[in-house]
This record gives sequence, structure tokens and C-alpha cells, in this order.
Amino acid sequence: MAHLWTLLLLKQSLTMILEDAVKKATDVRQKVCEWHSPEELKELLDLELRDSGEPEARILERCRDAIRYSVKTTHPHFFNQLYAGLEPYSLVASFITDALKPSLYTYEMSPVFTLMENAVLRKLIQTVGWEEGGDGLFNAGGSMSNMYALNLARYRHFPEIKELGNSAAPRLAVFTSQECHYSISKAAALMGIGTKNVFVVPSDKRGKMTPSALEEQIESVKSEGGVPFMVNATAGTTVLGAFDPIDEIADICEKNKLWLHVDACWGGAVLMSNKHKLLMKGIHRVDSVSWNPHKMLMACLQCSAFLVRDKTHLLQRCHSARASYLFQQDKFYDLSYDTGDKSVQCSRKPDAFKFWLMWKALGTSELEQRVDRALTMARYLADEITKREGFRLVMEPEYANVCFWYIPPSLRDLPDGPEFQEKLHNVAPVVKERMMKKGSMMVGYQPHRGQANFFRMVVISPQVSRQDMDFVLDEIHSLGKDL
Ligand SMILES: *Cc1c(COP(=O)(O)O)cnc(C)c1O
Ligand SMILES: *[C@@H]1O[C@H](CO)[C@@H](O)[C@H](O)[C@H]1NC(C)=O
Repeated sequence: MAHLWTLLLLKQSLTMILEDAVKKATDVRQKVCEWHSPEELKELLDLELRDSGEPEARILERCRDAIRYSVKTTHPHFFNQLYAGLEPYSLVASFITDALKPSLYTYEMSPVFTLMENAVLRKLIQTVGWEEGGDGLFNAGGSMSNMYALNLARYRHFPEIKELGNSAAPRLAVFTSQECHYSISKAAALMGIGTKNVFVVPSDKRGKMTPSALEEQIESVKSEGGVPFMVNATAGTTVLGAFDPIDEIADICEKNKLWLHVDACWGGAVLMSNKHKLLMKGIHRVDSVSWNPHKMLMACLQCSAFLVRDKTHLLQRCHSARASYLFQQDKFYDLSYDTGDKSVQCSRKPDAFKFWLMWKALGTSELEQRVDRALTMARYLADEITKREGFRLVMEPEYANVCFWYIPPSLRDLPDGPEFQEKLHNVAPVVKERMMKKGSMMVGYQPHRGQANFFRMVVISPQVSRQDMDFVLDEIHSLGKDL
């Protein structure tokens, strides 16, 4: 049994975690962040590691400080990222997995979590609509899932690459939309495909990939001797929350025999909603999907599923190294439960448990309602923006991203033109600086396609209300009205 002092320490820490990292962190009257420059923060944290250890009371102080100076992503006024909010069941699962330290390479090491991962994957595959089933894995993040897609697609087209390397293949080309998350370029660089062989397909005003442009690009790459092998579409782009027209893209992929991957890290949650799942019409036709339940569905970080429609053990064949010390072929149980060789990781956390437990507790219907509520709230915010003076929507939201400009009174009479745009461009960064220093909320901004900096509100958590939406607009006005 663990030492008494270990248990006492943990008890004290848990009380502190509940008080500071849960109760206070989610209290709307508290700050979202307590901003300090790196230099100040280094002083405050006394980072140096020394020869002798410190007494327990001091260590608990240090934990308090770590919590205090961290950003409270579970705070009701945190809207900065594509995740937010506290999901208690998922947190319980996180605590349990960190206490148990399981790793998912083999069934013998993680019997419970292997089966749970399997169950969640099967449910997600069903939700995507692959009636014949499929395969998958939970990974360390959506970027990793996207990389898996790229690797599987390439392996299916040129299995020799696994052994012979890139020189065994022609110049491979992959297509992705203009709105695409930067992870594809990283993946192409890492895998030796080359960033110049990532072809960016133009998207329309709403941020959706234009199918005719995709078709033209495929032809043009072919005519130059390139070999297209994969199209990467997005369901829920990072900035605008746009959904590519999957059905039309699937037609093109079928015709050209290309792997179709859909990055649904952010938007996949609409599949839980009968009201909104049409945004991903055609998803049952694609080859692979990445979907992060840690985003809209609020599982604890990280919880990222990669799903593949293939039923020929492609994941296993593509990634296996058959390490004989781990995956002995003469084991006493069904080896198909050893998932480790499907992965490029060795140790892998049982992230699926964080989703399984909350799904058990809430049921599919509550997950559905959460998605619907978030989108209703996003709609409310967009309507408020349209009504209020000094606010302007970048476009009507389709999902939970609400993009808008704030125009301070001094700019409201200026005619639209280069001078207005330049001044408008400078508004959001200053408002952001002020909100961070005040600690009142966190909302992101960015320039996008040559447009002036605009705010991107992300509406997720079932903890947020209309008052919180009103607060965001009031607060932006009060922070920026003198600009
Ligand atoms: C968040 C996101 C990713 C990356 O996922 P991580 O888990 O942060 O690695 C990739 N694509 C899209 C569209 C995303 O929203
Ligand atoms: C596909 O597009 C998405 C979203 O735009 C991006 O995140 C991802 O990295 C891209 N690449 C791959 C290989 O899926």
C-alpha cells in the first residue's frame, strides 16, 4: 500500500485542485488569466532546480502558483481556442488514468482501456455512417491523426514505400483547401512528400473548397507528371468554421481514385446532432476522418480519434514493426486486441476512456443537445452583433465560430477604404492586449485573406449563457471605445 504520507499529500493536493483549479478557475467573478511577461513570471515561479528538495508545504504553494498563473480554459469567459469548459466525468477519467499509468500497446497491459477504446471507435464509426465498420485509433492530437491519414493514403497507393522509402515513388501530390490548418504542410515536410507538393485548392467566400477548382488542379498536376493520391477536406475550418462540400469532393475522388480524408477535428461534433449533421453530408463515403472529442464535445485534453474505413488492416500493415518483445505471436489470447502495432507511438494514453465515461454518463442525447445549444448560442451572438452599433459580422456563422469586427466610434464615420481598413486592422490587437492584462476574458483575433484583423468567438461550453455572449460584446466595446 502507498505510504501514509503519500496518501496525505494526495488528499491535500486534491482538495487544493478542487478549490483552485476547478472551483475558482470556473468562477465567472475570477480572472481568466493573470498576465505576466516571461521575465516577471520566471521571477514569480523561481524555476531553478536545486540539489536539495523542498518541504511539502512549499511544494503545495508551488502547485497553487502553477494554477494561479495559468490560463483558465474552463472559465466561462474563455473563448480563445477550439475547446473550452469543464467536463467533470471526463476529468474523473483523466484522474483515474493518471493514477493507474496504463499504456495501450497490448491487451495484457491495458485490458479495460483496450476494450473501451474499441467500443468508442466502433460507436464513432457508426456515427460516421460506415455500415461495414472500419478501424481507428486515439492519437496524441488531431495533427497526428492527419499525419496518419497522409501516411495510410500513401501506403495504399505505394506500399513499397514502407521498405524502399520515398525514392520508390513518383512525385506524389496532395490537395487541400486554402483554409486548411497548417498541420498538413508540417506533415508533408515530415513525411518527405514536400510542402511544394501540397496543392492548395481555392475556396469560396464562405471558406469552402471549390470542387471545380479541385478538379482543374488534379488535371494540371497530372499533366506535369505528378501523381495525385489524396484530397484533404475540412469539416469545420479553424478560423471561419467552414464545411467543405464532402459529397461533391467524394465524386471527384472516386473518379480519380484518390484517398479522401476529412479533417473533422473541430466540426465532427455536428454528426451527433440530427439538426446539423447535414453539414457533413457524404461523410460516409470518405476514406478517413480525424475527429477531436476534446473540442466541441468537451472531453479532457487530449482526446483525438482517427477513423479509417478500410477493413484490410491497413493501419496495422502500414505502421507495424512487429517488435517481438511486445507483440509475441504465441500469446495465450486473441492477438487482434493488441493495438500497439497500429500506432507510430509506443506508449499511448487511454484517451478514449475520457470520452467513454462522459458518454456513458450523459448519453448520446445530451451530447446532441450540447452541440445544438452551442450552435443556438452562436446564432444568438451573431444576431446581437448584427443589431449593435459598431459591430459587423465577417459572415453569417454556419457553426460555432462567430467572426466579427469591432468598429470604435472614432472610425464609424470614415468611408470604407485603405485608411479605414488600416485603422480597423489595429483595433483587435489592442483590445486583445487590454483584455489579457485585465484578465476579463480571452477571445482570439486574426487577419484572414487580406482582411483587417477580426475577432473569432468560439462558442462551446454548455456553461455559457446569453449573458456571457452579451458580456463579450459589452467588454470589447468598453475596452476599445477610445481607440
Ligand atoms: C484543432 C485542429 C487540428 C489539430 O488538432 P490538435 O489536436 O490540436 O493537434 C487540426 N485540424 C483542425 C481543423 C483543427 O481544428
Ligand atoms: C487537412 O486539412 C486540415 C484542416 O484544414 C488540416 O488540419 C490537416 O492538417 C490537413 N492535412 C491532412 C494530411 O489531413
